[in-house]
Amino acid sequence: MLHMVKKYENFLDMVIYQIYPKSFKDTNGDGIGDIQGIIEKLDYLQDLGVNAIWLCPCYKSPGHDNGYDISDYRCIAPEYGTMEDMYCLIAEMRKRGMKLIMDLVPNHTSNEHEWFIRSRKGEEKYRDYYYWFDKPQNDWGASFGGSAWQYDDEREQYYLHSYAVQQPDLNWTNPAVVKEIQDVINYWVNLGVDGFRIDVIDQISKNFDGQNSFGPHLHEYIHAMFGRDNVKDIFTVGECWAGDIDEIRRHIDYDRGELSTLFQFDHLEAGRVGKFTPGEKNLKKVRDKIVMWQLKLQDFGLIHSLFTDNHDNAPFISRVADDHSLRYESATCVAAMFYLLRGIPFIYQGQEIGITTSSYDSMASFNDLECFNAYQEFLKAGCTEKEALNKVNFGSRDNARRPFAWDNSRYAGFSTHEPWLPIASRADEINLAIDQQAEKSVFRFYRDLLRLRREEPALRRGVTDVISAEEDNFFIFTRTLDDRVFTVVCNFEQPSAIEDSKGFGSEILHNYLDRKAGNTAFRPYEIAVFVSNHQ
Ligand code: NOJ
Repeated sequence: MLHMVKKYENFLDMVIYQIYPKSFKDTNGDGIGDIQGIIEKLDYLQDLGVNAIWLCPCYKSPGHDNGYDISDYRCIAPEYGTMEDMYCLIAEMRKRGMKLIMDLVPNHTSNEHEWFIRSRKGEEKYRDYYYWFDKPQNDWGASFGGSAWQYDDEREQYYLHSYAVQQPDLNWTNPAVVKEIQDVINYWVNLGVDGFRIDVIDQISKNFDGQNSFGPHLHEYIHAMFGRDNVKDIFTVGECWAGDIDEIRRHIDYDRGELSTLFQFDHLEAGRVGKFTPGEKNLKKVRDKIVMWQLKLQDFGLIHSLFTDNHDNAPFISRVADDHSLRYESATCVAAMFYLLRGIPFIYQGQEIGITTSSYDSMASFNDLECFNAYQEFLKAGCTEKEALNKVNFGSRDNARRPFAWDNSRYAGFSTHEPWLPIASRADEINLAIDQQAEKSVFRFYRDLLRLRREEPALRRGVTDVISAEEDNFFIFTRTLDDRVFTVVCNFEQPSAIEDSKGFGSEILHNYLDRKAGNTAFRPYEIAVFVSNHQ
């Protein structure tokens, strides 16, 4: 095993909570979450046990892709508040020793960004800020449907948009563009931001003759962003669909000015076939994927990003486990499987209360352009309206973007006004207030798990070894540091029995309240954590 670069090790102490600002907490009664809402909930987050926040884009944006179409990188969207609110957030987080990770979107801007407005006019300085051609350069499709090339009447040329028509791709071959993004990074770092999550980083360098990712100058551009002295120690996590360990190794290297870590998405495909069709519910597949990456990354001394949910995917437990009668057990089992491994836990808002997918009987309850495009595609492919809606209910990104359900009051305590997106269809049953009063509380389990992680260096820095065999219907792993050994047993959907747990030491965490210490029989999604001191 290679040793982790010393500077990296501190990152293993982070527990990052991802906030989708539009849906977290509204304080000014307009039905849209805001920065003040985040400030209001900092104590809650601290109590949960997180020490860092990744804030999804809250910059000025016309909102075609909910903030991933930025029209001013240096300004907070008015619906979220002011720069003063932002300064206040940074100061309040500092006070609590929390780190702030902002979302950086360097691949594209909004078509309402000044750079694009001036570029489409052909103004000299901005002429080459985007990719303009007299004809499409290839047959790339845009991620939200249709061609990636759009004809512009004003400029009388085509421009590239890897995502929506309103999201033109920046031309990174132009040094002025590189400089602009460097300045944006400096601006936020100077304001006190501790790091960035970088949107679709693998797409910033293009090879028009190949795929729309991993172009020839990608690393040059990453170094230009993060290899500079003033920013080379900040935390960076790239959204990057790297396929194998060699590719991943090229992207994670602090000293070479690469990234601190990246998101690897393999395991998210469990329980679905494509984004909108349910597949087999199976935690075994999830285990096999994360084990593979955990051990490979550990071998190379690299940091594993431990996550199951984000704003682009419907809640994980609904896909891979039982989100009805065993919802608490499923949510806590998945948390133990991921967050006790070696790496950085990323918790998406709502996971800590066990949120699930929603179900609606009309497309009027949705907002995301991805699911509207997909819905039309399903109809074209011959689905009935009901079938198409079922698929959207299953896979829409809106499932992850419903307002946070704080309590049982009108609009789930998120706002006093009708929210921008209807609240989750199960918000009456699944909300923080109910969860905290329940005997089986997902929140309390998360808090206990994170406390254990915080108090036990072995669970942060320790080495991972996997004990269970591939054919087992459970997952057993250990985390070891010096003499201290933690053994984590997570059972999957079928009851199972392990041979003996005596050697594992004493039990310190479990998710079935009536569990008898030392029991070798494990019920569906039952987990137990043991600790021992080896001499
Ligand atoms: C990935 C983001 O996570 C997603 O929400 C967004 O739509 C695309 N990138 C485009 O920015």
